[in-house]
Amino acid sequence: MNELSKLFLPPDKSTVAHHYDSLFWFVHISGLILVVGLLAVIVYFVIKYHRSSEDEVTPVIKGDNKLEITWSVIPLIFVLIVFGWGYKLYMQEQTVPDDAYEVHVTGQQWSWGFDYANGAHSQKELHVPAGRPVKLVMTSKDVIHSFYVPSFRLKQDVLPNRYTSLWFNAPDTGRYQIFCAEYCGTGHSQMLGTVVVQKPQDFQTWLAKNKGGASNSNLKPAELGKQIYNQYACSTCHSTDGSKKTGPSWKGLFGSKVQLSSGKTVTADSAYIHESIIHPNAKVVKGFQPVMPNFQGQFDDNQINAIIEYIKTLK
Ligand code: CUA
Repeated sequence: MNELSKLFLPPDKSTVAHHYDSLFWFVHISGLILVVGLLAVIVYFVIKYHRSSEDEVTPVIKGDNKLEITWSVIPLIFVLIVFGWGYKLYMQEQTVPDDAYEVHVTGQQWSWGFDYANGAHSQKELHVPAGRPVKLVMTSKDVIHSFYVPSFRLKQDVLPNRYTSLWFNAPDTGRYQIFCAEYCGTGHSQMLGTVVVQKPQDFQTWLAKNKGGASNSNLKPAELGKQIYNQYACSTCHSTDGSKKTGPSWKGLFGSKVQLSSGKTVTADSAYIHESIIHPNAKVVKGFQPVMPNFQGQFDDNQINAIIEYIKTLK
């Protein structure tokens, strides 16, 4: 089974992953045996009992209790094994260890945000210590998303106005892919992230460094803007090289004339960019859909200025 997992499944990087793999293979292999067995019997019967002459009469069969009990009880046993096994794993996943480290997860079109106990915030990258249980408390700002880490064999829906949770223990350091597994709009396939599993001391260092979030850094405004661009996943929809994504590119944007879907033209000055961040649908650029989430209340003026300064550098 381990060999099969290595061949067909992503690496198992949480303490529960191989339990799920065993159940996965049990269901698939027993199903395969059943399908092949049934097909073989069908083919055999078709050949053996086919009607061979015009005057052959179909025999009347009244039933066979022994046979009927056998083919009911054997599948029942298989189904009960799958139920019991699944129930055990489900309970294991629902029971969070007391010493779990808690991280708050926010899903938003189209990015993942992570908030840590000391005030640190990260976007797209979930940092966790290796070898320690981590509990994720998750909610969404807009629609239903689903937090999915294939290497951990864990997936959980993330809903607005509700909290769902998930826990895992990842023993090995490394970087593991996060997907959104619930269709949530245009940028769904780009709603990616990474779990960064670090040695406990490296994790503590990272936490301390990021305490207070992006606005407290002493970067130059344009550098801070670039950091926000990556952290808040503006990059999902806005390129900086002129290529067209879900939203207009930022390259050469500042000071340019922008055609709006209303037919009007505006100059992309600071006021226009500021408005487009906090009221994205006020002036939609021609050829684009009004799908940008509202960032009102998420950035202070300092951060918005930093974004504008960054855009200015993209000539
Ligand atoms: Cu979020 Cu799909």
